[in-house]
Amino acid sequence: MATTPQEKRIILKNIDQDGYTRDIDCYLANGGYEVLKQTVTKDPADLCKEIETSGLRGRGGAGFPCGMKWKFLDRKSGKPIYLVCNADESEPGTFKDRQIIHKDPHQLIEGMMCSAFAIQAACAYIYIRGEFPEGAKILEEAIEEARKKNFVGKNICGTKYSCEIYVHRGAGAYICGEETGLIESLEGKRAYPRIKPPFFPAVLGLYQCPTAVNNVETLCNVKHVFDMGGEEYAKIGKPGNTGTRILCVSGHVKKPGYYEFEVGSLTLGQLIYDVCGGLPEGRTLKAVIPGGSSAKVLRADERYTGKTKSGEEFDWSLEDIPLDFDSLMAAGSMAGSGGVIVMDDTTDMVEALGNINAFYAHESCGQCTPCREGSLWMKKITTRMLEGQPRLEDVDLLKSVADQIAGRTICAFGEACAWPTQSFVLKFRDEFIAKAEKQIKESSPSREPALAETE
Ligand SMILES: Cc1cc2nc3c(=O)[nH]c(=O)nc-3n(C[C@H](O)[C@H](O)[C@H](O)COP(=O)(O)O)c2cc1C
Ligand code: SF4
Repeated sequence: MATTPQEKRIILKNIDQDGYTRDIDCYLANGGYEVLKQTVTKDPADLCKEIETSGLRGRGGAGFPCGMKWKFLDRKSGKPIYLVCNADESEPGTFKDRQIIHKDPHQLIEGMMCSAFAIQAACAYIYIRGEFPEGAKILEEAIEEARKKNFVGKNICGTKYSCEIYVHRGAGAYICGEETGLIESLEGKRAYPRIKPPFFPAVLGLYQCPTAVNNVETLCNVKHVFDMGGEEYAKIGKPGNTGTRILCVSGHVKKPGYYEFEVGSLTLGQLIYDVCGGLPEGRTLKAVIPGGSSAKVLRADERYTGKTKSGEEFDWSLEDIPLDFDSLMAAGSMAGSGGVIVMDDTTDMVEALGNINAFYAHESCGQCTPCREGSLWMKKITTRMLEGQPRLEDVDLLKSVADQIAGRTICAFGEACAWPTQSFVLKFRDEFIAKAEKQIKESSPSREPALAETE
Protein backbone atom coordinates (compact mmCIF):
# COMPACT_ATOMS: atom_id res chain seq x y z
CA MET A 1 0.00 0.00 0.00
CA ALA A 2 1.27 3.49 -0.88
CA THR A 3 2.53 5.55 2.05
CA THR A 4 0.28 8.33 3.22
CA PRO A 5 1.64 11.74 2.24
CA GLN A 6 2.38 14.44 4.79
CA GLU A 7 0.07 17.39 5.07
CA LYS A 8 1.10 20.27 2.83
CA ARG A 9 0.05 23.39 4.65
CA ILE A 10 0.00 26.46 2.44
CA ILE A 11 -3.23 28.12 3.53
CA LEU A 12 -3.07 26.68 7.06
CA LYS A 13 0.72 27.21 7.34
CA ASN A 14 0.58 29.57 10.31
CA ILE A 15 -2.76 28.55 11.74
CA ASP A 16 -2.51 26.72 15.11
CA GLN A 17 1.26 27.32 15.29
CA ASP A 18 2.57 28.19 18.76
CA GLY A 19 2.81 31.95 19.22
CA TYR A 20 0.99 32.81 15.97
CA THR A 21 -1.70 35.41 16.56
CA ARG A 22 -4.15 37.03 14.21
CA ASP A 23 -2.96 40.63 14.62
CA ILE A 24 -1.22 42.49 11.83
CA ASP A 25 2.17 42.69 13.58
CA CYS A 26 2.39 38.92 13.74
CA TYR A 27 1.25 38.64 10.11
CA LEU A 28 3.87 41.18 8.99
CA ALA A 29 6.58 39.45 11.01
CA ASN A 30 5.80 36.29 9.04
CA GLY A 31 6.16 37.95 5.63
CA GLY A 32 2.59 39.22 5.42
CA TYR A 33 1.58 41.74 2.73
CA GLU A 34 4.89 41.31 0.85
CA VAL A 35 2.99 39.61 -2.00
CA LEU A 36 0.52 42.50 -2.16
CA LYS A 37 3.36 45.03 -2.32
CA GLN A 38 4.74 43.17 -5.37
CA THR A 39 1.33 42.53 -6.92
CA VAL A 40 0.33 46.20 -7.15
CA THR A 41 3.43 46.92 -9.26
CA LYS A 42 2.41 44.37 -11.93
CA ASP A 43 0.13 44.42 -14.96
CA PRO A 44 -3.39 43.28 -13.93
CA ALA A 45 -3.86 41.37 -17.21
CA ASP A 46 -0.64 39.39 -16.56
CA LEU A 47 -1.84 38.59 -13.06
CA CYS A 48 -5.14 37.22 -14.40
CA LYS A 49 -3.11 35.06 -16.81
CA GLU A 50 -1.11 33.70 -13.85
CA ILE A 51 -4.35 32.55 -12.27
CA GLU A 52 -5.33 30.79 -15.51
CA THR A 53 -1.91 29.12 -15.71
CA SER A 54 -2.18 27.98 -12.09
CA GLY A 55 -5.32 25.98 -12.84
CA LEU A 56 -6.80 27.17 -9.52
CA ARG A 57 -10.35 25.86 -9.14
CA GLY A 58 -12.94 27.37 -6.81
CA ARG A 59 -13.05 25.92 -3.31
CA GLY A 60 -16.65 26.95 -2.59
CA GLY A 61 -18.36 23.90 -4.10
CA ALA A 62 -18.53 23.80 -7.87
CA GLY A 63 -14.77 23.70 -8.52
CA PHE A 64 -15.08 26.23 -11.36
CA PRO A 65 -11.72 27.51 -12.71
CA CYS A 66 -10.98 30.86 -11.11
CA GLY A 67 -9.07 32.18 -14.13
CA MET A 68 -11.99 31.47 -16.44
CA LYS A 69 -14.42 33.18 -14.05
CA TRP A 70 -12.28 36.31 -14.02
CA LYS A 71 -11.91 36.16 -17.82
CA PHE A 72 -15.70 36.32 -18.17
CA LEU A 73 -15.87 39.64 -16.27
CA ASP A 74 -17.42 42.17 -18.62
CA ARG A 75 -14.64 44.73 -18.76
CA LYS A 76 -16.06 46.54 -21.79
CA SER A 77 -19.26 47.66 -20.06
CA GLY A 78 -17.51 50.60 -18.42
CA LYS A 79 -19.31 49.76 -15.17
CA PRO A 80 -17.39 49.29 -11.92
CA ILE A 81 -16.20 45.75 -11.22
CA TYR A 82 -16.88 44.26 -7.78
CA LEU A 83 -15.16 41.50 -5.86
CA VAL A 84 -17.26 39.53 -3.38
CA CYS A 85 -15.81 37.06 -0.93
CA ASN A 86 -18.27 34.29 -0.11
CA ALA A 87 -17.84 33.62 3.61
CA ASP A 88 -21.28 32.12 4.09
CA GLU A 89 -19.90 28.62 4.75
CA SER A 90 -23.25 27.02 5.45
CA GLU A 91 -22.84 23.63 3.75
CA PRO A 92 -23.24 21.04 6.54
CA GLY A 93 -19.93 19.29 7.21
CA THR A 94 -17.81 22.30 6.20
CA PHE A 95 -15.75 24.28 8.72
CA LYS A 96 -12.63 25.60 7.02
CA ASP A 97 -13.35 29.23 6.08
CA ARG A 98 -14.16 30.11 9.68
CA GLN A 99 -10.71 28.84 10.76
CA ILE A 100 -9.01 31.19 8.31
CA ILE A 101 -11.20 34.10 9.39
CA HIS A 102 -10.67 33.52 13.09
CA LYS A 103 -7.00 32.59 13.06
CA ASP A 104 -5.44 34.29 10.03
CA PRO A 105 -7.77 37.07 8.79
CA HIS A 106 -4.95 39.05 7.16
CA GLN A 107 -4.23 36.16 4.81
CA LEU A 108 -7.77 36.56 3.48
CA ILE A 109 -7.48 40.35 3.30
CA GLU A 110 -4.19 40.11 1.42
CA GLY A 111 -5.67 37.47 -0.92
CA MET A 112 -8.67 39.73 -1.53
CA MET A 113 -6.57 42.82 -2.22
CA CYS A 114 -4.35 40.87 -4.64
CA SER A 115 -7.50 39.58 -6.39
CA ALA A 116 -9.14 43.01 -6.38
CA PHE A 117 -6.07 44.57 -8.01
CA ALA A 118 -5.85 41.79 -10.63
CA ILE A 119 -9.47 42.30 -11.72
CA GLN A 120 -9.28 46.06 -11.03
CA ALA A 121 -12.23 45.95 -8.67
CA ALA A 122 -13.69 49.27 -7.57
CA CYS A 123 -14.50 47.82 -4.16
CA ALA A 124 -14.79 44.50 -2.37
CA TYR A 125 -17.23 42.89 0.05
CA ILE A 126 -16.99 40.01 2.46
CA TYR A 127 -20.39 38.39 2.84
CA ILE A 128 -20.24 36.53 6.14
CA ARG A 129 -23.01 34.35 7.51
CA GLY A 130 -25.10 35.74 10.34
CA GLU A 131 -24.07 32.93 12.68
CA PHE A 132 -20.45 34.17 12.64
CA PRO A 133 -20.68 37.42 14.66
CA GLU A 134 -17.22 36.89 16.13
CA GLY A 135 -15.74 36.30 12.66
CA ALA A 136 -17.33 39.51 11.36
CA LYS A 137 -15.85 41.47 14.27
CA ILE A 138 -12.40 39.96 13.72
CA LEU A 139 -12.53 40.86 10.03
CA GLU A 140 -13.63 44.42 10.71
CA GLU A 141 -10.78 44.91 13.15
CA ALA A 142 -8.27 43.34 10.75
CA ILE A 143 -9.45 45.57 7.87
CA GLU A 144 -9.00 48.59 10.10
CA GLU A 145 -5.44 47.45 10.95
CA ALA A 146 -4.68 46.92 7.25
CA ARG A 147 -6.14 50.32 6.34
CA LYS A 148 -3.85 52.04 8.85
CA LYS A 149 -0.85 50.40 7.13
CA ASN A 150 -2.12 51.38 3.67
CA PHE A 151 -2.97 47.85 2.49
CA VAL A 152 -6.70 48.62 2.16
CA GLY A 153 -8.42 51.87 1.15
CA LYS A 154 -6.92 54.80 -0.73
CA ASN A 155 -3.65 54.56 -2.71
CA ILE A 156 -2.74 51.05 -1.71
CA CYS A 157 0.98 50.64 -0.97
CA GLY A 158 1.51 54.16 -2.30
CA THR A 159 0.10 53.42 -5.79
CA LYS A 160 -2.82 55.02 -7.63
CA TYR A 161 -4.98 51.97 -6.94
CA SER A 162 -7.66 52.36 -4.24
CA CYS A 163 -10.08 49.72 -2.98
CA GLU A 164 -12.22 49.42 0.15
CA ILE A 165 -13.35 46.16 1.75
CA TYR A 166 -16.73 46.11 3.51
CA VAL A 167 -17.97 43.33 5.76
CA HIS A 168 -21.64 42.46 5.26
CA ARG A 169 -23.39 40.14 7.71
CA GLY A 170 -26.06 37.74 6.49
CA ALA A 171 -29.11 36.99 8.58
CA GLY A 172 -28.63 33.23 8.71
CA ALA A 173 -29.86 31.41 5.60
CA TYR A 174 -28.10 28.66 3.63
CA ILE A 175 -29.31 30.08 0.32
CA CYS A 176 -27.24 33.24 0.91
CA GLY A 177 -24.23 31.07 0.02
CA GLU A 178 -25.52 30.64 -3.54
CA GLU A 179 -23.76 33.43 -5.37
CA THR A 180 -26.78 35.16 -6.93
CA GLY A 181 -28.83 34.81 -3.73
CA LEU A 182 -25.85 36.31 -1.94
CA ILE A 183 -25.77 39.25 -4.36
CA GLU A 184 -29.50 39.91 -3.85
CA SER A 185 -28.96 39.83 -0.08
CA LEU A 186 -25.98 42.18 -0.39
CA GLU A 187 -28.25 44.58 -2.27
CA GLY A 188 -30.56 44.55 0.73
CA LYS A 189 -33.21 42.22 -0.66
CA ARG A 190 -34.50 38.76 0.17
CA ALA A 191 -31.91 36.21 -1.00
CA TYR A 192 -33.83 34.86 -3.98
CA PRO A 193 -31.32 33.35 -6.44
CA ARG A 194 -31.40 34.94 -9.89
CA ILE A 195 -32.10 33.17 -13.15
CA LYS A 196 -28.97 32.34 -15.17
CA PRO A 197 -28.94 33.47 -17.97
CA PRO A 198 -29.04 36.45 -17.98
CA PHE A 199 -27.77 37.05 -14.44
CA PHE A 200 -24.29 35.57 -14.61
CA PRO A 201 -22.45 37.58 -11.93
CA ALA A 202 -19.45 38.16 -14.23
CA VAL A 203 -21.75 40.25 -16.44
CA LEU A 204 -24.79 41.24 -14.37
CA GLY A 205 -23.80 40.84 -10.74
CA LEU A 206 -23.89 43.25 -7.80
CA TYR A 207 -25.90 46.38 -8.74
CA GLN A 208 -26.05 44.87 -12.29
CA CYS A 209 -22.29 45.34 -12.60
CA PRO A 210 -19.61 42.72 -13.40
CA THR A 211 -18.83 40.83 -10.20
CA ALA A 212 -16.43 38.07 -9.22
CA VAL A 213 -17.79 35.95 -6.37
CA ASN A 214 -15.16 33.69 -4.83
CA ASN A 215 -14.86 31.53 -1.76
CA VAL A 216 -12.59 32.44 1.20
CA GLU A 217 -10.14 29.58 0.53
CA THR A 218 -10.00 30.40 -3.22
CA LEU A 219 -9.09 34.03 -2.50
CA CYS A 220 -6.38 32.98 -0.04
CA ASN A 221 -4.93 30.75 -2.76
CA VAL A 222 -4.68 33.73 -5.13
CA LYS A 223 -2.05 35.29 -2.88
CA HIS A 224 0.04 32.09 -3.06
CA VAL A 225 -0.34 31.83 -6.84
CA PHE A 226 1.01 35.38 -7.18
CA ASP A 227 3.78 34.55 -4.73
CA MET A 228 5.08 31.44 -6.49
CA GLY A 229 3.81 32.08 -10.02
CA GLY A 230 1.10 30.18 -11.88
CA GLU A 231 3.45 27.56 -13.31
CA GLU A 232 4.95 26.61 -9.96
CA TYR A 233 1.53 26.49 -8.34
CA ALA A 234 0.30 24.17 -11.11
CA LYS A 235 2.99 21.65 -10.12
CA ILE A 236 1.24 21.14 -6.78
CA GLY A 237 -1.50 18.54 -6.90
CA LYS A 238 -2.54 16.91 -10.17
CA PRO A 239 -3.17 18.27 -13.68
CA GLY A 240 -6.62 19.86 -13.69
CA ASN A 241 -6.72 19.51 -9.87
CA THR A 242 -3.97 21.83 -8.73
CA GLY A 243 -2.92 23.28 -5.40
CA THR A 244 -3.89 22.13 -1.96
CA ARG A 245 -7.29 21.50 -0.48
CA ILE A 246 -8.52 21.92 3.08
CA LEU A 247 -10.49 18.82 4.02
CA CYS A 248 -12.92 19.06 6.94
CA VAL A 249 -13.49 15.61 8.41
CA SER A 250 -16.42 14.93 10.71
CA GLY A 251 -18.44 11.93 11.85
CA HIS A 252 -17.16 8.54 12.98
CA VAL A 253 -13.39 9.02 13.07
CA LYS A 254 -11.08 9.24 16.06
CA LYS A 255 -9.50 12.55 15.00
CA PRO A 256 -12.01 14.76 13.24
CA GLY A 257 -10.71 18.16 12.14
CA TYR A 258 -9.34 20.17 9.24
CA TYR A 259 -6.34 19.03 7.24
CA GLU A 260 -4.60 20.44 4.18
CA PHE A 261 -3.18 18.18 1.47
CA GLU A 262 -2.07 18.48 -2.14
CA VAL A 263 -5.20 17.89 -4.19
CA GLY A 264 -5.46 14.20 -5.10
CA SER A 265 -2.32 13.22 -3.16
CA LEU A 266 -4.16 10.91 -0.79
CA THR A 267 -7.07 8.51 -0.93
CA LEU A 268 -10.23 8.48 1.12
CA GLY A 269 -8.90 5.42 3.01
CA GLN A 270 -5.62 7.19 3.88
CA LEU A 271 -7.56 10.19 5.12
CA ILE A 272 -9.87 8.13 7.31
CA TYR A 273 -7.42 5.58 8.71
CA ASP A 274 -3.99 7.24 8.70
CA VAL A 275 -4.77 10.92 9.08
CA CYS A 276 -7.92 10.74 11.21
CA GLY A 277 -6.92 7.69 13.27
CA GLY A 278 -9.60 5.36 11.90
CA LEU A 279 -13.07 4.56 13.19
CA PRO A 280 -14.04 4.08 16.83
CA GLU A 281 -13.00 0.63 18.17
CA GLY A 282 -14.95 -2.30 16.78
CA ARG A 283 -16.74 -0.33 14.08
CA THR A 284 -16.60 -0.80 10.32
CA LEU A 285 -16.96 1.76 7.57
CA LYS A 286 -20.43 2.01 6.06
CA ALA A 287 -20.51 5.15 3.92
CA VAL A 288 -18.91 8.51 3.24
CA ILE A 289 -20.28 11.82 1.99
CA PRO A 290 -17.13 13.35 0.51
CA GLY A 291 -18.00 17.00 -0.21
CA GLY A 292 -20.58 18.43 2.19
CA SER A 293 -24.13 17.22 2.75
CA SER A 294 -25.27 17.88 -0.81
CA ALA A 295 -22.66 15.54 -2.32
CA LYS A 296 -23.89 12.05 -3.21
CA VAL A 297 -23.18 9.40 -0.58
CA LEU A 298 -20.66 6.65 -1.40
CA ARG A 299 -21.11 3.12 -0.05
CA ALA A 300 -18.17 1.32 1.54
CA ASP A 301 -18.82 -2.18 0.21
CA GLU A 302 -19.14 -1.13 -3.41
CA ARG A 303 -16.61 -1.04 -6.25
CA TYR A 304 -16.28 2.10 -8.29
CA THR A 305 -15.39 1.46 -11.90
CA GLY A 306 -15.22 3.56 -15.04
CA LYS A 307 -12.96 5.98 -16.87
CA THR A 308 -11.43 9.15 -15.49
CA LYS A 309 -11.68 12.45 -17.33
CA SER A 310 -8.26 11.77 -18.83
CA GLY A 311 -9.45 8.41 -20.16
CA GLU A 312 -7.78 6.07 -17.63
CA GLU A 313 -9.78 3.05 -16.54
CA PHE A 314 -10.27 2.66 -12.79
CA ASP A 315 -11.57 -0.01 -10.43
CA TRP A 316 -11.58 1.42 -6.92
CA SER A 317 -12.87 0.40 -3.54
CA LEU A 318 -14.29 3.35 -1.58
CA GLU A 319 -11.00 3.60 0.28
CA ASP A 320 -8.98 3.79 -2.98
CA ILE A 321 -10.75 6.89 -4.30
CA PRO A 322 -8.27 9.78 -4.68
CA LEU A 323 -9.50 13.01 -3.11
CA ASP A 324 -9.57 15.35 -6.08
CA PHE A 325 -12.32 17.04 -8.06
CA ASP A 326 -12.26 14.73 -11.09
CA SER A 327 -11.82 11.38 -9.29
CA LEU A 328 -14.72 12.03 -6.91
CA MET A 329 -16.87 13.04 -9.85
CA ALA A 330 -15.85 9.89 -11.74
CA ALA A 331 -16.86 7.86 -8.66
CA GLY A 332 -20.33 9.43 -8.82
CA SER A 333 -20.06 12.15 -6.18
CA MET A 334 -18.12 15.40 -5.85
CA ALA A 335 -15.37 17.17 -3.93
CA GLY A 336 -17.85 20.00 -3.24
CA SER A 337 -16.95 22.13 -0.25
CA GLY A 338 -14.35 19.69 1.14
CA GLY A 339 -16.58 18.47 3.99
CA VAL A 340 -15.93 14.73 4.41
CA ILE A 341 -18.64 13.08 6.56
CA VAL A 342 -17.72 9.55 7.70
CA MET A 343 -20.40 7.05 8.74
CA ASP A 344 -19.75 3.71 10.42
CA ASP A 345 -21.94 0.61 10.73
CA THR A 346 -23.95 2.09 13.62
CA THR A 347 -25.45 4.71 11.27
CA ASP A 348 -29.14 4.44 10.48
CA MET A 349 -29.18 5.66 6.88
CA VAL A 350 -32.88 6.57 7.00
CA GLU A 351 -32.23 8.70 10.06
CA ALA A 352 -29.17 10.28 8.42
CA LEU A 353 -31.20 11.18 5.34
CA GLY A 354 -34.08 12.40 7.51
CA ASN A 355 -31.67 14.80 9.16
CA ILE A 356 -30.36 16.09 5.82
CA ASN A 357 -33.87 16.41 4.39
CA ALA A 358 -35.05 18.42 7.42
CA PHE A 359 -32.21 20.86 6.76
CA TYR A 360 -32.99 21.34 3.07
CA ALA A 361 -36.75 21.68 3.64
CA HIS A 362 -36.01 24.44 6.13
CA GLU A 363 -33.54 26.22 3.84
CA SER A 364 -35.36 26.22 0.47
CA CYS A 365 -36.02 29.87 -0.43
CA GLY A 366 -39.42 28.85 -1.79
CA GLN A 367 -39.09 30.61 -5.11
CA CYS A 368 -39.64 27.57 -7.36
CA THR A 369 -42.29 24.94 -6.88
CA PRO A 370 -40.30 21.69 -7.34
CA CYS A 371 -37.78 22.74 -4.69
CA ARG A 372 -40.21 24.40 -2.27
CA GLU A 373 -42.77 21.54 -2.32
CA GLY A 374 -40.37 18.70 -3.10
CA SER A 375 -37.91 19.42 -0.30
CA LEU A 376 -40.81 19.49 2.16
CA TRP A 377 -42.30 16.26 0.79
CA MET A 378 -38.92 14.53 1.08
CA LYS A 379 -38.71 15.66 4.68
CA LYS A 380 -42.27 14.49 5.41
CA ILE A 381 -41.70 11.09 3.83
CA THR A 382 -38.43 10.43 5.69
CA THR A 383 -40.01 11.66 8.93
CA ARG A 384 -42.96 9.29 8.62
CA MET A 385 -40.57 6.45 7.76
CA LEU A 386 -38.81 7.14 11.03
CA GLU A 387 -41.65 8.07 13.33
CA GLY A 388 -45.03 7.68 11.75
CA GLN A 389 -46.91 5.29 9.56
CA PRO A 390 -44.98 4.76 6.37
CA ARG A 391 -46.18 3.02 3.25
CA LEU A 392 -43.98 0.60 1.35
CA GLU A 393 -44.27 2.73 -1.76
CA ASP A 394 -42.63 5.57 0.18
CA VAL A 395 -39.17 4.34 -0.81
CA ASP A 396 -39.91 4.78 -4.51
CA LEU A 397 -41.97 7.89 -3.87
CA LEU A 398 -39.00 9.49 -2.15
CA LYS A 399 -36.76 8.80 -5.12
CA SER A 400 -39.42 9.98 -7.57
CA VAL A 401 -39.83 13.32 -5.76
CA ALA A 402 -36.04 13.85 -5.82
CA ASP A 403 -35.90 12.98 -9.53
CA GLN A 404 -38.47 15.66 -10.24
CA ILE A 405 -36.56 18.39 -8.44
CA ALA A 406 -33.06 17.99 -9.91
CA GLY A 407 -32.61 19.97 -13.11
CA ARG A 408 -35.93 21.79 -12.81
CA THR A 409 -35.09 24.72 -10.58
CA ILE A 410 -33.67 28.23 -10.72
CA CYS A 411 -30.56 27.46 -8.72
CA ALA A 412 -28.42 24.47 -7.83
CA PHE A 413 -30.12 24.13 -4.44
CA GLY A 414 -32.46 21.85 -6.42
CA GLU A 415 -29.61 19.40 -7.03
CA ALA A 416 -28.17 19.99 -3.54
CA CYS A 417 -31.38 18.76 -1.93
CA ALA A 418 -32.17 16.01 -4.48
CA TRP A 419 -28.75 14.31 -4.64
CA PRO A 420 -28.71 13.08 -1.03
CA THR A 421 -32.13 11.44 -1.41
CA GLN A 422 -31.34 9.99 -4.84
CA SER A 423 -28.06 8.48 -3.68
CA PHE A 424 -29.18 7.27 -0.24
CA VAL A 425 -32.21 5.48 -1.69
CA LEU A 426 -30.26 4.04 -4.61
CA LYS A 427 -27.36 2.77 -2.50
CA PHE A 428 -29.24 1.74 0.65
CA ARG A 429 -32.58 0.68 -0.80
CA ASP A 430 -32.57 -2.53 1.26
CA GLU A 431 -32.26 -0.51 4.47
CA PHE A 432 -35.07 1.87 3.49
CA ILE A 433 -37.39 -1.04 2.60
CA ALA A 434 -36.54 -2.82 5.88
CA LYS A 435 -37.23 0.36 7.85
CA ALA A 436 -40.60 0.84 6.15
CA GLU A 437 -41.53 -2.82 6.69
CA LYS A 438 -40.57 -2.65 10.36
CA GLN A 439 -42.53 0.53 10.98
CA ILE A 440 -45.59 -0.86 9.18
CA LYS A 441 -45.44 -4.06 11.21
CA GLU A 442 -45.09 -2.17 14.48
CA SER A 443 -47.86 0.30 13.70
CA SER A 444 -50.38 -2.35 12.41
CA PRO A 445 -49.37 -5.94 13.32
CA SER A 446 -52.21 -7.49 11.31
CA ARG A 447 -50.87 -6.10 8.05
CA GLU A 448 -48.30 -8.25 6.20
CA PRO A 449 -46.07 -5.91 4.21
CA ALA A 450 -44.86 -7.23 0.89
CA LEU A 451 -42.29 -5.73 -1.39
CA ALA A 452 -44.57 -6.67 -4.30
CA GLU A 453 -46.85 -3.84 -3.16
CA THR A 454 -44.30 -1.40 -4.49
CA GLU A 455 -43.56 -3.13 -7.77
C1 LIG B 1 -27.32 26.25 -2.34
C2 LIG B 1 -25.91 26.68 -2.49
C3 LIG B 1 -25.18 27.09 -1.38
C4 LIG B 1 -23.86 27.51 -1.51
N1 LIG B 1 -23.16 27.88 -0.40
C5 LIG B 1 -21.88 28.32 -0.53
C6 LIG B 1 -21.15 28.74 0.62
O1 LIG B 1 -21.64 28.72 1.76
N2 LIG B 1 -19.87 29.17 0.41
C7 LIG B 1 -19.29 29.22 -0.83
O2 LIG B 1 -18.15 29.64 -0.98
N3 LIG B 1 -19.97 28.81 -1.92
C8 LIG B 1 -21.25 28.38 -1.81
N4 LIG B 1 -21.95 28.01 -2.93
C9 LIG B 1 -21.28 28.14 -4.24
C10 LIG B 1 -21.44 29.59 -4.76
O3 LIG B 1 -22.65 29.72 -5.46
C11 LIG B 1 -20.30 29.96 -5.72
O4 LIG B 1 -20.20 28.98 -6.69
C12 LIG B 1 -18.97 30.12 -5.01
O5 LIG B 1 -19.03 31.08 -4.00
C13 LIG B 1 -17.94 30.56 -6.02
O6 LIG B 1 -16.68 30.63 -5.44
P1 LIG B 1 -15.47 29.72 -5.94
O7 LIG B 1 -15.50 29.76 -7.45
O8 LIG B 1 -14.30 30.38 -5.36
O9 LIG B 1 -15.72 28.36 -5.43
C14 LIG B 1 -23.25 27.55 -2.80
C15 LIG B 1 -23.99 27.12 -3.91
C16 LIG B 1 -25.30 26.69 -3.76
C17 LIG B 1 -26.05 26.25 -4.97
S1 SF4 C 1 -34.00 25.86 -6.27
FE1 SF4 C 1 -34.87 26.16 -4.25
S2 SF4 C 1 -33.45 27.53 -3.25
FE2 SF4 C 1 -33.02 27.71 -5.47
S3 SF4 C 1 -34.32 29.36 -6.20
FE3 SF4 C 1 -35.53 27.53 -6.38
S4 SF4 C 1 -36.72 27.40 -4.46
FE4 SF4 C 1 -35.03 28.82 -4.13
